[in-house]
Amino acid sequence: MYRSNSGTFLRFARCTLFAAALFSLCAALSGAAFAAESAPMKRGILVVAFGSSVPEGQEAIAAVENAVKRAYPDTEVRLAFTSRIIMRKIASEQDRVIDEPAIALSKMAYEGFTHVAVLSTHVIPGAEYQDLEAVVDGFKIMRERGTKAGFDYIGLSNPLLSNATDFERLAQALVAEYADAARQGAVVLVGHGTHHFSDAAYSALQTALWRKSPNFFVGTIEGIPSYDDVITQLGKTKNKRVTLLPAMLVAGDHAYNDIGGEEPDSWANLLAGKGYASTPKFVGLGQLESVQRLLLDKLREVWGE
Ligand code: CO
Repeated sequence: MYRSNSGTFLRFARCTLFAAALFSLCAALSGAAFAAESAPMKRGILVVAFGSSVPEGQEAIAAVENAVKRAYPDTEVRLAFTSRIIMRKIASEQDRVIDEPAIALSKMAYEGFTHVAVLSTHVIPGAEYQDLEAVVDGFKIMRERGTKAGFDYIGLSNPLLSNATDFERLAQALVAEYADAARQGAVVLVGHGTHHFSDAAYSALQTALWRKSPNFFVGTIEGIPSYDDVITQLGKTKNKRVTLLPAMLVAGDHAYNDIGGEEPDSWANLLAGKGYASTPKFVGLGQLESVQRLLLDKLREVWGE
């Protein structure tokens, strides 16, 4: 009985040891396979702007970047520009290298980032945004094809004005932000404008603003509504005082030249020529906390939050 028990015990012990050894071998092998296939999770955010060549404009981009850093203190936040002309200008004049999105994302993939949210700070879904979308899609496709390039996850936010809620929210933010100026006269917001169909966003923003206040006007430098459209609309009111603002992420080159510049053909001087007392304000949309909140909401969507 005793021997038999002992024999059973020994068999049991041998069996257990063998099972344990086999288990650790399997665990070691699967662990190795796991390590080779998926790196530890590393989240990153890439803030993408068209870019600005002047320090005043760069302030608005930095303001957005800092708002993102405050909202995501444990996540690395990087910056890329989509305008090559601006990046070259900054590199040669300010000795500062800013990457374009494809390069910034390649570096992040190489440095082991696994999950990346790309925050577009473009105002409308125009050509610049579509280029960015193509780059992000490229990184998605690389991973889908089974290469080690790309990320476990990459997502891109919608631009500032991309759906009905966005027009409502931006209009609300602008009406609240410039309520004082609207009490004293007209507030004219000047967007960039484009040949691209998304130029229609500026007219939609105008409609959303007029639903809230008759004193807000939207114009664009290169699209519709034009300067002439704004003059026509202003002429229908009794406003003789105008606050001029850029409806762009930054108050940069366009704000300091085309809109509020000294040249006779700046919007400020053209309006003065028509009898309006115009005061340019050099504040980009990115400098408004209410707009930063809008962008942060779009970033949260990318993370599925
Ligand atoms: Co331009």
